[in-house]
Amino acid sequence: MEDFRGKVAVVTGAASGIGRGLAERFADEGMRVVLADIEADPLQATAAALTARGAEVRAVTCDVSDQDQVLDLATLTYEQFGTAHVVCNNAGVGGGSGPSWEIPQNAWDWTFGVNFWGVLHGIRAFVPRLVAQQEGHVVNTASLAGLTTIPFMSPYAATKHAVVGLSEALAIELAMIGSPVRVSVLCPGFIRTRIHESERNWPARLGDPPPGLGNDLLAASVRATIEAGMDPADLAARVVAAIRDERFFILSDDEHAVLAQQRADDVRTGRQPRLAPPEAFGVPSSPSAGS
Ligand code: NAI
Repeated sequence: MEDFRGKVAVVTGAASGIGRGLAERFADEGMRVVLADIEADPLQATAAALTARGAEVRAVTCDVSDQDQVLDLATLTYEQFGTAHVVCNNAGVGGGSGPSWEIPQNAWDWTFGVNFWGVLHGIRAFVPRLVAQQEGHVVNTASLAGLTTIPFMSPYAATKHAVVGLSEALAIELAMIGSPVRVSVLCPGFIRTRIHESERNWPARLGDPPPGLGNDLLAASVRATIEAGMDPADLAARVVAAIRDERFFILSDDEHAVLAQQRADDVRTGRQPRLAPPEAFGVPSSPSAGS
């Protein structure tokens, strides 16, 4: 897609962080933007800020883990704007932390519900319409954690690997049917957002949140690292460039490809994956926990 002006973008998780950065950038490109998020107040605040910048927006409260709500999001988008061109399945949560075998079932359910099913629901709701109109670009937010290995956050890592695999299959399928619809998978390193406060959206229907969710040593270290991360606006600029260039993998730093190369070497040699050093993610090597 060369020209964004007048086109329509849909962004889930648009009320904060990467989603908000994408929405702002799309608005600045002259797009109309549908903002979807589970958090109603920040969503309205984001919509007001974009409207004040001169953008035409719609704000939709939507839980992406619920298929019907995402189908409604697509229906509303087409009712309001008649089309969609860029669909960013971006909403996500940090998930539970700890050894894989100790993380409770409800933390796995929550993380898969938002990070994996949320993306799949977006694909099922929008891709048939994009294929029919013979135009569109889907951007699924995975993570660098989908290309490498993060221990003690296995629900997050597993969902992000799943999103990479799903996105690859989708892209190949669309190419094989001769569709001009394109796909990208966004695999950033650390970005300055509220991902470390994801427990604010813990769903009551899953019972009590697991003890320590968002409140343990690992979370403190992740928080310090996130707060030193890249500005979402800079990542959004890379996403817009990647859509223009029809680039499939979108990294926040080209150097991160070294981690995927290391993984390929592990596959070839049969070696057990190792934890990459923090420097490989482009972050300070010893973030001070809790700062
Ligand atoms: P964030 O917490 O600032 O934003 C996430 C947004 O998703 C929030 O507005 C939240 O209300 C919304 N959300 C949560 N559950 C939802 C649900 N069930 N339905 C609809 N919306 C929901 O975090 P961030 O970092 O902007 O996260 C966006 C995506 O980026 C996530 O998929 C995350 O995994 C991914 N990511 C983030 C990285 C980072 O360092 N911040 C690095 C790599 C990937």
